[in-house]
Amino acid sequence: MFLIFLGAPGVGKGTQADIFAKELGIPHISTGDILREAVARGTELGLVAKGYMEKGELVPDEIVIGIIQERISEPDCKKGCIFDGFPRTVTQAAALDKVLAKSNKKIDYVINIEVDEEEIVRRLSGRRSCAKCGRIYHLLYSPPVKDGICNDCGGELYQRDDDREEVIRNRLRVYNQETVPLISYYRKKSVLRNVEGKNSVEEVTQEIERVLKTG
Ligand code: AP5
Repeated sequence: MFLIFLGAPGVGKGTQADIFAKELGIPHISTGDILREAVARGTELGLVAKGYMEKGELVPDEIVIGIIQERISEPDCKKGCIFDGFPRTVTQAAALDKVLAKSNKKIDYVINIEVDEEEIVRRLSGRRSCAKCGRIYHLLYSPPVKDGICNDCGGELYQRDDDREEVIRNRLRVYNQETVPLISYYRKKSVLRNVEGKNSVEEVTQEIERVLKTG
């Protein structure tokens, strides 16, 4: 099954994609995670991506499409995967359709998670991520047992550079301009499913499960 988790920054795409990747036994592909890892390792890709990411701008389409083409050609994606944070422009969506069509595959569902802007700012400013395993926490909604330490692996928790309020506002502006057109792109293909994201993590998971069961 090939799924896309769509939605503004901070709606819970990564949180839910992690849960469903485990549930469905398919990889969770987050372009944001791939780019952050490249930045942390100081690779050529990381050096280019850093300038865009710290301002909350999109990394150019050709770079991100190249990353995805390479990633989905790996054997673990044969039966499907969950895309989180990709595609983000109509150009990226069309490129993804083309790559999948080459092996007679297509996107099954696009789960569009909806949350209002003030809640998004609250979620992102309280987010902490594990530097070692990537698990996502929230200082109020889902805090770790021990302050600053990951429950799963003992790694240190950090705050993302782009989770400062002025960068969050720019990410939302870029989302409205570049990514919102994907909603009608996928609605026309009859694969779009809207999910209310303001409820608890467990309730959002249940709603997505229902959508995947009933279609
Ligand atoms: P990326 O990493 O993709 O960030 P994003 O899309 O802005 O999304 P986030 O990761 O911020 O949020 P999320 O929806 O995954 O929420 P999460 O589950 O963490 O992209 C970062 C940058 O990389 C971009 O700005 C761009 O520069 C570049 N980039 C990436 N992909 C690109 C592409 N395709 N093209 C071009 N450039 C690209 O949850 C957020 C918080 O809320 C957490 O603390 C969580 O614990 C909490 N939470 C989650 N669900 C709930 C709930 N139901 N109730 C209460 N709290 C909740």
